[in-house]
Amino acid sequence: MTATDTNSINAAPDTGADDPNRVRIFDTTLRDGEQSPGCSMNLEEKVRVALILEEMGVDIIEAGFPIASNGDFEAVREVANAVKTSSVAGLARASSKDIDRAWEALKGAAQPRIHTFLSTSPLHMRVKLQMEPEEVHQAIVDSVSHARNLCPDVEWSPEDGSRTEHDFLCRVVESAIRAGATTINIPDTVGYAVPGEFAELITMLFNRVPNIDKAVISVHCHNDLGLAVANSLAAVDAGARQIECTINGIGERAGNCALEEVVMALRTRPDVMPYTSRVDTTFITRASHLVSTITGFAVQPNKAIVGANAFAHESGIHQDGVLKDAQTYEIMTPESVGLTESNLVMGKHSGSHAFREKLKDLGYGDLGQNAIADAFQRFKDLADKKKEVFDEDIIALVDDTIQHDSDRIRFVSLQVVAGSKGPQTAELELEIDGEVAATKSDGNGPVDAIFNAIKVLCPHSATLQLYQVHAVTGGTDAQAEVTVRLEEDGKTVNGQGADADTLVASVRAYLHALNKLSVKREKTAPAALSA
Ligand code: KIV
Ligand code: ZN
Repeated sequence: MTATDTNSINAAPDTGADDPNRVRIFDTTLRDGEQSPGCSMNLEEKVRVALILEEMGVDIIEAGFPIASNGDFEAVREVANAVKTSSVAGLARASSKDIDRAWEALKGAAQPRIHTFLSTSPLHMRVKLQMEPEEVHQAIVDSVSHARNLCPDVEWSPEDGSRTEHDFLCRVVESAIRAGATTINIPDTVGYAVPGEFAELITMLFNRVPNIDKAVISVHCHNDLGLAVANSLAAVDAGARQIECTINGIGERAGNCALEEVVMALRTRPDVMPYTSRVDTTFITRASHLVSTITGFAVQPNKAIVGANAFAHESGIHQDGVLKDAQTYEIMTPESVGLTESNLVMGKHSGSHAFREKLKDLGYGDLGQNAIADAFQRFKDLADKKKEVFDEDIIALVDDTIQHDSDRIRFVSLQVVAGSKGPQTAELELEIDGEVAATKSDGNGPVDAIFNAIKVLCPHSATLQLYQVHAVTGGTDAQAEVTVRLEEDGKTVNGQGADADTLVASVRAYLHALNKLSVKREKTAPAALSA
């Protein structure tokens, strides 16, 4: 298929001609974010994240690196098929094989984008690629032309762009645009740039590349010096109109530019940054929670926008000010990022109709009947145990219910003896492929006893990499959200479980991880590939 054929079935790339000050938001949580060590998402989780990004109004969703593994390929294809209103991008190195594989995964998308890249800094060309600059230049022209023959929307990135010699950068950018790139993305791959310098780099490209107006200029900043958001905003001031970012700023090493921070900065300070994005910021809290739950990467309490303390006021002086007028200490409202006031909304007398309405309010409008029924039953159980049921509780239990929908190994019951006298024991009943099995184990503490019991009922060689507990709300009757990370044969999975009982949540989380391991396909980490 050629670009002309493709144009007839896929929408033309977004040139942004409608509003010259609109900044496109390109989310790479599912690609660069997933390259964080210890982070892995399965296909179903990637589709869930993609759908919330789409609902949120993200312009482009980078769904993965299709050549990296069959799992990555299938995830990109599923996301491409599921997403209707955002563009879906797939990453490819500068080779026809990579690009063809990316196109194969993307071609069902309403708006596909091939994102191809090659290193251009002297260090990367010499050490990593072992190629001469002329060879790199030719490979860029060939790869971009090849991609453009397949897809009308092609993004090209000079990896390590911020450390590339200016003359060479101008030359390759001009050639990439001539070869058909519709977006040129300048990465600060190693998070080395500082804002003034990065803005000058973008200005330099606008001044020196003669055909620069034929492409959207994008930036992709890593956070090694904590400057990813500042660098991205400085680049926008210099003319960039696409920012690449991730939810919660996850990504390689110190991560990527955080979507929630950059979008809220644009929204909060139009007086000094007169740019807009299409993101509906009220989805931020839900997206942050979903990504954190799926990846097991907890959000630090003082993290801007999405940290638990981001809108909390502790000191008396601050509380007094906020009570008089919230603007004294709040530069944005909690509602603008989708935080609803944690007031008591539901209780044990609430019926299924009110529960369904609540789910809609919380953004779970499209749950199937079975999932709603299961979630409602768990809500009733929770309301029996817990005096106050908050929105956060409902979000945690619904996410938990969705996650465990297709599990082979299911939790049935748990009885634990804990305390200082020992031995700590766990009596556990599980349903495995429809059959109930039970055992009793002891251990070095109740969690150890529980995990030993699971090992008896479901023998496996996975090792525990992470065990993390998070209280969903305040109070001693708060639900616990537990994350368990297991590793087996080099494959890592995260499991999550929520329950009013921390130990039950621990079982659920461990079983979730085990269920994922049993279906996990062979996967090679994209980071292991070299361009
Ligand atoms: O950081 C980087 O340079 C990248 C490119 C592939 C855009 O992730
Ligand atoms: Zn990157």
